[in-house]
Amino acid sequence: MTKKIEIKVSLQVFPKSEWIAEDGDLITKAEQVLDNAHAPYSNFLVGAALLLENGETFVANNQENVSFPVGVCAERAVLSYAMGNRPNVRPVKLAIVAKRRQDAQLATVTPCGLCRQTINEYEVKFGHPIEILMLNPAQEILKASGIDQLLPFRFNDLNS
Ligand code: THU
Repeated sequence: MTKKIEIKVSLQVFPKSEWIAEDGDLITKAEQVLDNAHAPYSNFLVGAALLLENGETFVANNQENVSFPVGVCAERAVLSYAMGNRPNVRPVKLAIVAKRRQDAQLATVTPCGLCRQTINEYEVKFGHPIEILMLNPAQEILKASGIDQLLPFRFNDLNS
């Protein structure tokens, strides 16, 4: 008989009235760098802010290229920069905010597959989950407790 392997995933939803200060600050920092995105092709602006265990925050945004696959998402940009500069400091939480250039309100964003795999890399490096905070247009924070909630059945081990 065949069997089924199931993984249940979930996100916590926090209305603005329930935000904790640390999350709100990180979301604000991500929002502040939206407009620095280089996104002339998609006009989809993404800001990311990463809080490290030592209290430092790094920010970045998406950087596109006329050769489309060369473009880099905000999440990978901030993780590469922060981890390149603070290789021994654990990333605690990552906030992501997005907006279509022509819209007044925000767009819902969740990390793409490449970024999910990248987040996974640093969870494995530090042996600890990284919280992922995503803001939706209703100003709710969607919180994943770790990449396992966004990337079940992920690739993790070259040797098994
Ligand atoms: N993008 C990000 O920066 N992060 C995401 O989570 C989703 C997508 C960027 C890539 C590209 O520059 C634009 O948004 C449209 O896909």
